[in-house]
Amino acid sequence: MATFSLRVNGRARAVTAEPAMPLLWVLRDLLGLTGTKFGCGVGLCGACTVHLAGEPARSCRIPVSAVGKRDVVTVEGLATSAPAVQAAWISEAVSQCGYCQAGQLMTAAALLRAKAKPSDADIDAAFDDVLCRCGTYQRIRRAVHRAAEG
Ligand code: FES
Repeated sequence: MATFSLRVNGRARAVTAEPAMPLLWVLRDLLGLTGTKFGCGVGLCGACTVHLAGEPARSCRIPVSAVGKRDVVTVEGLATSAPAVQAAWISEAVSQCGYCQAGQLMTAAALLRAKAKPSDADIDAAFDDVLCRCGTYQRIRRAVHRAAEG
């Protein structure tokens, strides 16, 4: 066990954990930030996507010891960092079962930070490996365009 000093959603957080513990478990089990979901656990589904230093990252595959000083933002911090994305998701009623949506929202926010007005092809490429078993991809696409309009 070791103690790690993290910065999560703009707050300093100290956690004591095994160095190999995935960031996903730290967020959910030690910090109570349960918006980030466990899907596959092997980096394939995107349900656990958070932002690490502003880039989308699969928290199931990142040991807490590898986070270092990089800022972590979870879906709970999105209201501050990307409010237009959440508003667009609500307006387009994107969620169906909702399980994957934290990963979808974090992917959308990262895409819009990288490209202010993404094309359909940009959106499809960004979400290609963020799986939604309900098939909400058309609504996701509309919501990203709506968020891009501000
Ligand atoms: Fe991390 Fe599936 S739970 S990518």
